Amino acid sequence: MSIVLLVHVLAVGLWLGCLATEIAFEKLMARDESARPFVSLLHDRVDRFVEGPAFVVTAITGAILVPGAAWTPTLVLKVALAAAAVLFNIWCLKIVFDRAAAASAGRWDDWAALDHVQHKVGGLVTLLLIAATVVALVRVV
Ligand code: HEM
Repeated sequence: MSIVLLVHVLAVGLWLGCLATEIAFEKLMARDESARPFVSLLHDRVDRFVEGPAFVVTAITGAILVPGAAWTPTLVLKVALAAAAVLFNIWCLKIVFDRAAAASAGRWDDWAALDHVQHKVGGLVTLLLIAATVVALVRVV
């Protein structure tokens, strides 16, 4: 296995791990309103310093692998699903940053609207990444 492919797969694992952890703390926050300021800021920090770098590294290493790739329908499908997950995750980062800013400023109406959209877009990212991972696994198993 090349070093680029190793980094590619590790970065995907980190990205998936971030999404799983975020689902856990977002669900906790949904049950406890007092956690809103802390969890909003926590999600902002995770996105900035862990999840953002993880999906950027996934996309960059994937792009480096493109020239040597043997293109099959499953690879095309995986890359399409993963690329869509990257694009929606960029949008999700913006929503998470705006929601944290709204929480810090005590703008709770704005926070509620952003929170609603965040769960929709975050859910879509998760589904797309799981689908890409299933296709990637089908290719190797
Ligand atoms: C935009 C994102 C991505 C791009 C551009 C991309 C691109 C690529 C390319 C070009 C290869 C080499 C294929 C070959 O040599 O035939 C590869 C390999 C691989 N990728 Fe990705 N990938 C992306 C996301 C993902 C995701 C989300 C997973 C999830 C697990 C993943 C898992 C793998 C695995 C396991 C391999 C090695 C086995 C194989 O060739 O299929 N990749 N990727």
